[in-house]
Amino acid sequence: MKLAVNIDHFATLREARRSNEPEPVLAALLSEQAGAEGIVCHIRGDRRHIKERDLRLFREAIKTKLNIEMAATKEMKKIAIDLKPEVVSLVPEREEELTTEGGLDVISNEKHLGPHIQELQKAGIRVSIFVDPNLKQIEACHRVGVNLIEINTTKYSDLRPGAERDKALDEIKEVAKYSHTLGMEIHAGHGLDYKNVQPIAEIPEISELSIGFSIVARSAIVGIDMAVREMVSLIE
Ligand code: PXP
Repeated sequence: MKLAVNIDHFATLREARRSNEPEPVLAALLSEQAGAEGIVCHIRGDRRHIKERDLRLFREAIKTKLNIEMAATKEMKKIAIDLKPEVVSLVPEREEELTTEGGLDVISNEKHLGPHIQELQKAGIRVSIFVDPNLKQIEACHRVGVNLIEINTTKYSDLRPGAERDKALDEIKEVAKYSHTLGMEIHAGHGLDYKNVQPIAEIPEISELSIGFSIVARSAIVGIDMAVREMVSLIE
């Protein structure tokens, strides 16, 4: 199981004081040194944390894999094509949200997403879709031409251990199995932390986890090197 570290919240800390530190690119490099196999960030329409400058620095410095989360808009498509990250993850975006609130509704946006995805792919960018654990949405992902998805784990992550959480876990397992039969590479993430990550890490069809907040929060206490190493050893 690979770990991709989402470093948005180093930029959130910087923007809390409109400062120039901490540098998210430094956090990215230290994460790689501690065992992360990819770096993820989300450039939002309002640029509340990650900005174009960060993307340029990431592109130059990151040696593993740069995955940029973004909305499926014209503005973001241009940023991606100019920058050429290894992966673009398409996510829904609502201005007032604290964090991404759900998977992309691929079914309702198929007509728009198909050509949008093709343009990114033509530029040599691999496209992923952040999607809820719902078989119909997965089929729509397949139809719009992606071979990589990230299953949204929020419902599972928000629940305490027990029957309800087991049900949410089973939904993820079922969707991962089905996506695998469609030939998809399967990642997962959102809300995963040091306590809840292991049952997700044990799903054989899932090859990578995207984890941000819990690692950034822990790194404020123990340092980023230790925070990333602890997560890597938990999921391995
Ligand atoms: N995956 C996606 C698509 C996200 O938007 C985020 C949050 O930016 C994450 C994973 C990571 O979630 P968390 O910060 O809760 O670990």
